[in-house]
Amino acid sequence: MALNPVPDHVPPEMVGDFSLFTSPGMLPTPDGDPQAATACVHAGPPIFYSPFNTRDGRGTWVITRATDQRRVLQDADSFSSHRSIFASALGENWPMIPLELDPPAHGVFRSLLNPLLSPKRVTALEPAVRERAIALIDSIAASGTSCDVMQDFAFPFAVSIFLRLLGLPDHRLHTFVGWANDLLHGDDVKRPAAARTILAFIDELAAMRREEPVDDFMTFIVQAQVEGRRLTDEEVRGIGVLVFVAGLDTVAAAIGFDLAFLARHPKEQELLRSEPNRIVLAAEELLRAYPTVQIIRVARKDIDFEGAPIRKGDYVSCATMIANRDPAEFECPDTIDLMREDNRHAAFGYGPHRCLGSHLARREIVIGLEEWLARLPAFRIKEGTAPIAYGGHVFGIENLIVDWS
Ligand code: HEM
Repeated sequence: MALNPVPDHVPPEMVGDFSLFTSPGMLPTPDGDPQAATACVHAGPPIFYSPFNTRDGRGTWVITRATDQRRVLQDADSFSSHRSIFASALGENWPMIPLELDPPAHGVFRSLLNPLLSPKRVTALEPAVRERAIALIDSIAASGTSCDVMQDFAFPFAVSIFLRLLGLPDHRLHTFVGWANDLLHGDDVKRPAAARTILAFIDELAAMRREEPVDDFMTFIVQAQVEGRRLTDEEVRGIGVLVFVAGLDTVAAAIGFDLAFLARHPKEQELLRSEPNRIVLAAEELLRAYPTVQIIRVARKDIDFEGAPIRKGDYVSCATMIANRDPAEFECPDTIDLMREDNRHAAFGYGPHRCLGSHLARREIVIGLEEWLARLPAFRIKEGTAPIAYGGHVFGIENLIVDWS
């Protein structure tokens, strides 16, 4: 059997030679720019079929126009979010909550969780976020004139905020960074092992908080009621796992892409250093230019969409990096303009599943950049090194070694 077959219902002329996993610029590439590499799809049709566009090698329809992506993302009757991504890696079938639930269950859990990551709640977390950024950056400054941004700052910073959110002490940071690394970047052996470890940890934490409630996220979850009943163990797991998975790689990658951009653009770096009040606006433009998430939906029925015969069960990709380079939406989308205003980008998705952690993510990114620029002198990519950027479900960057000697 041929690899990556195109289903019979897909007309051959609708098959596109583009994938977020395998096209040039998507495989780990030194000095690569995978987000810019997606812009080429805007020269083509509004929808095409990519025969290899998921980690497990499945094909998806690819929606290229931002306005069409919004149509898909707000039409949960036609396009489902139910995929059991985490559980299926363990041979199980339960949803991450609320990400993989459809209405009406989605709305029930979304309303339950909204207050936990509301702007007010995030404001209360801010001093801790800043304290953790400062501690990490000061230790980087004390240990020399160069560092690996991802390993030394972006990843431990995101993990430590997750620990803070769950009310866990920071001394477990290294253990969690290890689990998260294995889960998100490990091989076929490390990944399921890390998934089991994280599940066991969530189960254990839930049991502890049931026994001895404190004022934290997990206590709220185990005491919460939906539709007049307590949450089941599976629901508690589904929420715990999602908060772990959703906020680590995404925030770390955003900080990595932002600092890589500033390392390569000394003028912009100087501007933000001398006028830090511009960082909030600049962070929005960097989220537009370097979004990281490919959103996928599953067709619930047969639909003809802009001439494409989508069939029940087909995967439909709404890649935020493609929407954010749509010339119908943004003037000069390939130009990164840190003063760009009215920046209604798609980095956090759209519709009922729009990112629940967006307030927290924004504050983490802005505070990370503020403290980095305030505490370290002008920095650049270390000579003789090249950051390696990659595409996929969550775009990222590794080996980002910067130097300020
Ligand atoms: C720069 C960082 C981040 C980016 C780019 C990002 C992006 C996204 C996107 C695109 C979605 C929509 C997925 C879909 O429609 O299928 C989403 C959903 C979600 N995100 Fe984020 N995210 C980030 C950070 C965070 C953080 C820090 C948290 C929490 C601590 C978080 C929690 C969630 C949750 C719970 C959902 C599911 C919402 C729902 O299904 O109703 N995210 N995120």
